[in-house]
Amino acid sequence: MTSGHDPGGGDALKAAEEGRDPQRMLDAVLSLPEHCRRGYAVGRETPGLPSGDGVTTITVYGMGGSGVSGDLVRSLFRERLAIPIDVVKGPVLPEYCQKDTLVVCSSYSGETAETLSCFEEAARRGCRALAISTGGTLAARAEEASIPLVRIPAEVPVPRAALGFLAFGLLGALEAIGIVPPLESEVQHTVRVLADLAGGFRPDADGVTGNRAAALAESIGDRHPVIWGADGIGAVAAGRWKTQMNENAKVAAWASVLPELDHNEVVGWSAGQGERFFVIALRHEEEHPDVAARFPVSLQIASESGAGHEEVHAEGASPLARLLSLIMTGDATSVYLAYLRGVDPTPIEAIDRIKAALAEEGG
Ligand code: F6R
Repeated sequence: MTSGHDPGGGDALKAAEEGRDPQRMLDAVLSLPEHCRRGYAVGRETPGLPSGDGVTTITVYGMGGSGVSGDLVRSLFRERLAIPIDVVKGPVLPEYCQKDTLVVCSSYSGETAETLSCFEEAARRGCRALAISTGGTLAARAEEASIPLVRIPAEVPVPRAALGFLAFGLLGALEAIGIVPPLESEVQHTVRVLADLAGGFRPDADGVTGNRAAALAESIGDRHPVIWGADGIGAVAAGRWKTQMNENAKVAAWASVLPELDHNEVVGWSAGQGERFFVIALRHEEEHPDVAARFPVSLQIASESGAGHEEVHAEGASPLARLLSLIMTGDATSVYLAYLRGVDPTPIEAIDRIKAALAEEGG
């Protein structure tokens, strides 16, 4: 572990106490267990869900914070289901999406241009479609086309803070459709694991040394986070850490996946290159043994190039709980890093600017 900062999390906690979070992103992060519980119930109880009989492929469509739920479901089920799950994050609905494809269009706001156009195209092709949103144009179009809608509550300031609603809404709906097995006990376990974790991430948690997220933020300090995870749930968690570091802490950050990074990225960790970076390796008990064996030597190479590094271990007894525990630790760390850097975690001016510029161009 290398860090030029006090690993106790003192500065980040002090910043939290100074009220650098007017829209209360930390509260939204710490509400994740409750969001998961409620999202799952909303998904399961959605009226008019399509039949899962004869579905040949599942395609989850969504951008940014609304697309992560697709990554999550794919990583959890791709090795357990007999049909493929694809996640699409671009403007074109793949040609294979036809009437036996379940196309899930996920958009927190219901206003994201790419998601709306794919939704239209899925409806036109007669795919078995499902929308997930708080409302907006997506909900209105779903209603017009008699396509079921998992309507999640609009109670967090931004889409990325709604992961519990979006992902567990999707899981609940997939269970009700009969595509994934019953998940109730796994969801309950996950909620318990997250609630325990949340207690440790509060600004008043057991003194400064007790708050792992604040301590990690201090370890990262002014370096760029590079997040590593093992293929599968580790990779999804690493991707989420990266985007939360980008959007909440406003830092350039990167994520990569083992074993792939051992075939290219490690070479880049050459003498002196690591000095501006801090590698966080996300670990969990079910990593493939061949992949697990790669972490120590890969971290050693990054460390020799001057990078700081730390490992974060998942909690919980199921893949769902482990994945969510890694995600929540990253979400909280990104908020504490925002506090340390003196930035407000909630606004995303660059994204708003791009959306406004494109809307203007589109007339
Ligand atoms: C904002 C965020 C973004 C949005 C994305 C799509 O917090 O995370 O990545 O999720 O721009 O917008 P929605 O989710 O409304 O479809």
